[in-house]
Amino acid sequence: MAKDHWRQKQSLDKYFIESKAKGFRSRSAFKLKEIDQKLKLFTSNISILDLGSTPGGWSQYIAKQNHKKLNIIANDINVMNKINGVAFFQGDFTDKSIQETLINMNNNKKFNIILSDISPNKTGNKITDQYIFYDLVSNVLEFSKIALINEGKIVMKVFHGLGFEGFTNDCRNIFETVKFFKPKACRSDSKETYMIAQNIRYNSKNE
Ligand SMILES: C[S@@+](CC[C@H](N)C(=O)[O-])C[C@H]1O[C@@H](n2cnc3c(N)ncnc32)[C@H](O)[C@@H]1O
Repeated sequence: MAKDHWRQKQSLDKYFIESKAKGFRSRSAFKLKEIDQKLKLFTSNISILDLGSTPGGWSQYIAKQNHKKLNIIANDINVMNKINGVAFFQGDFTDKSIQETLINMNNNKKFNIILSDISPNKTGNKITDQYIFYDLVSNVLEFSKIALINEGKIVMKVFHGLGFEGFTNDCRNIFETVKFFKPKACRSDSKETYMIAQNIRYNSKNE
């Protein structure tokens, strides 16, 4: 019954309808579109890492922009069907060997942009879910210290609630600029928002 209600809500959702019409694999593509329209994230000649990429809405959105010489690398613990112009590697991002592989796929260079829409499966316990989530994205934050160029940007989904403040403080210790933006495409009843951080602080890479 609850599932039917969710399906009905989803099929009436304007972003869901638009994502089907435009051939996007997920309505999440519109969240990234709004972030990109606000911040002009993507340009030619840059490398982008899309973490938690499946089913592929964000990667599709980036690949559809007509920027030249983009190196788009995507990773998810689950499989993602092929997208032209995107190199996908499946695996658990928290695994160090997967992190090394992703850097290797970028010709052993640091990324200009790291995107993280990662969210693990819910357990049903809100406290546990927040704990697991922030443990996971803390890995992304640590990784950004070694895998992002100094002036690079990170765009990360985060959830208000337990762990949010501590994580935000960690981000402010690493990045000079930390901002938040909630795209209209986020469901209004969701605690999710997007953190956009830029410019790694001098020294934070050596801590
Ligand atoms: C909300 S979905 C991402 C949607 C995607 N941005 C899009 O536009 O289609 C979150 C993703 O995070 C992935 N994920 C969760 N834990 C992960 C992990 N440890 N490593 C890599 N991906 C993970 C999930 O498999 C899921 O596909």
